[in-house]
Amino acid sequence: MIRNKVVVGILPTFPHSETDPYGDTASFVQMYSDKVKECGGIPIGILEKDASFYTSICDAYIWPGGSKVHREFFLILQDAIQNKKPILGICLGAQAISIFFNLLEDKKKYPDLSLEEIYQKMKEENPYLKEAENVSIHSHIVTKEKESILNAMHEITIQKNSLLYQIYQTEKMNVVSLHTITIAHASADLMISAKSSDGVIEAIEYQDFILGVQFHPEILPDLQIFEWLLETACRKYLLLVNKKEKVQKQDFLIVHYDSTIAESLGQSDMELNTKEAWLSLQAFLQSHGFIVDVNSAYRSSQVQQEIWDFYLNKYNDDYVQKYVAKPGFSEHETGLAIDVSVKVNEKWMDEETDQTAEFFTFLAQNAWQFGFIIRYPKGKEEVTGYSYEPWHIRYVGSSKIAKKIMENHLTLEEYLERKF
Ligand code: DAL
Ligand code: ZN
Repeated sequence: MIRNKVVVGILPTFPHSETDPYGDTASFVQMYSDKVKECGGIPIGILEKDASFYTSICDAYIWPGGSKVHREFFLILQDAIQNKKPILGICLGAQAISIFFNLLEDKKKYPDLSLEEIYQKMKEENPYLKEAENVSIHSHIVTKEKESILNAMHEITIQKNSLLYQIYQTEKMNVVSLHTITIAHASADLMISAKSSDGVIEAIEYQDFILGVQFHPEILPDLQIFEWLLETACRKYLLLVNKKEKVQKQDFLIVHYDSTIAESLGQSDMELNTKEAWLSLQAFLQSHGFIVDVNSAYRSSQVQQEIWDFYLNKYNDDYVQKYVAKPGFSEHETGLAIDVSVKVNEKWMDEETDQTAEFFTFLAQNAWQFGFIIRYPKGKEEVTGYSYEPWHIRYVGSSKIAKKIMENHLTLEEYLERKF
C-alpha cells in the first residue's frame, strides 16, 4: 500500500533489453493503468525482467496482452501464488498463467527438471497453446471508435460457480477478443470458467485470486474485473472480528509505536500499514487543530484478558459486554484497531463529552481518507454487538472502501454482506 492505495504492478506489453543503456525500453498500454486509477489504485510499470524489487511493493498484478510470454516474469506469478496476491492475466497474460500451471503440472512428471528445462522440452510440441481455428470471432484490429469495438465483440458463456460469475453476475456476456493463439490445454489445477461458442477457453482461474481472461476488459467502459483485483488485494484488511468471529492467526506485521499518552494502556504497537495510515491521519488532524494520540492499539489476548478483568472489577457485567471484547474476540488483537485520544485543555480525553464532540464528529467525517472507519457507530449496536465507541477506529486497507462504508452508514458486518 502507498498512501492507503493498492499498488498494482503492470507488466510491459513489449519488454526490450539492449546493450545500449538508452535503448533499454519497455512499452506499456495506458488503458490498463487508467483502469487501476479509476478504481482508486496506484499503477506502476514493472520495468525489469528481474522483478524481485517490484514483488516487494506490489499488492496485485496485471499481466497484459503482448506478443511473447517472457518467462522471467514467472517470478511475479510465484509471488502472487505464495503471498495470495491477486493477479489478472489478459489475453497473452492469461496464456502465460495457463502455461505456468502446465509447467507445475508437468513438474510432477519430471521432478528432476527445472520449470525452464520442462519448458524447453515441451517447446517443440507446444501442447499448451494452439492457433485459434475461428479467427473471424477472435482476431480483430480495433480503433478507439465505438463502432470498431462493437464489431470486435462476441459472446462468451460463464460457469455459474466461478469467480468470473461472481464478478460479472451473468452467464452470457459480450466481450472483445484480439488474438490468434489460444490456450490448448489448461492444467487440472485451473478452473475453466468461460468459453466462447467455438470452444475457445475464455477464462481460467485458480482459487479466488488468480484470474486469466482471453478477452480484453480494458477496452470496455465497465470496471468490475479491475475492482475485483483491487478489492481482493486489500481483502486481508477487511478481516471481520466480532462477538461471533474469533481472531484467526494471520500474517499481520505488528510494529512498534510510541504513544505520548503517559497513562495510556501501554499497548500502542500496531500493524505496519495501519501505523503508516495512522501517522498521516494524526498529522492531518493536527493540521486542523486537534492534538491526538493512541490510547490503545495492538493487544495480545493476555492484555485483552487483563482489560476485561479490570473493567469487570470496576463496572458490572452488562457494561463489560457492551464495551469490552472477550479475549480472542477483540479486533485490537489484529493490530488494525486504534483507540484515539484527543488533548483538550492539557488533558487526554477518549470519551464523547461536550469538550470532545467536535473532534469525534470531525474524526468520523475524515478518517476514511486514511483508510479508517468508525467501527462501532451510533445506532448500529444491534449489528456490531457493542455500544457506540467514537474513539475506536479500524483500518480497512483502502480509502475507497472506507469512504463507501462511511457514506452509506454501514458497519463492517454490513459492508461484507452487502458488497456494492
Ligand atoms: N472495545 C472493543 C469492543 C474491544 O474491546 O475490542
Ligand atoms: Zn478499541
